[in-house]
Amino acid sequence: MIDDLASRGAMHFAFEDDEQLVGYFYAQNIVGEVTLLNIAVAPEKQGQGIGTQLIESFIELCESQDVESIWLEVRDSNKTAQTLYLNAGFNEVDRRTNYYPTASGREDAIIMSYLCL
Ligand SMILES: CC(C)(COP(=O)(O)OP(=O)(O)OC[C@H]1O[C@@H](n2cnc3c(N)ncnc32)[C@H](O)[C@@H]1OP(=O)(O)O)[C@@H](O)C(=O)NCCC(=O)NCCS
Repeated sequence: MIDDLASRGAMHFAFEDDEQLVGYFYAQNIVGEVTLLNIAVAPEKQGQGIGTQLIESFIELCESQDVESIWLEVRDSNKTAQTLYLNAGFNEVDRRTNYYPTASGREDAIIMSYLCL
């Protein structure tokens, strides 16, 4: 999926430590509107501030490319990711009710946005 996006406004970044992949984000810029498609940190490296560094680097990258706004969606149950996004300056703007399947039913998708400077 990442390879496929390479020619279409790709904004990808991988963070390595000693040649090990520690975290990454990938996003797509369509005429100044960026969608953050995924961001992740290796499970054994989570909770050490790497996710915060990644999202801050991502926002800086967007602002350096004259992006107008950033959009993402996150599962209602993913409180860690929501904390990450809220701390970085994202706001919840909408909800898709029962959007994601879960083991026990369905859960909402929260839509968040960030308006660049
Ligand atoms: C979301 C993710 C990228 C965060 O990366 P990370 O390196 O652990 O993030 P940080 O260490 O910078 O912590 C981010 C914030 O989450 C908070 N946090 C950590 N665990 C938490 C939990 N269980 N509940 C709520 N907040 C939590 C941290 O306290 C921190 O907030 P603070 O700066 O106010 O203290 C990482 O958890 C991950 O890869 N998750 C799996 C993939 C995923 O869900 N990606 C998002 C898809 S939308």
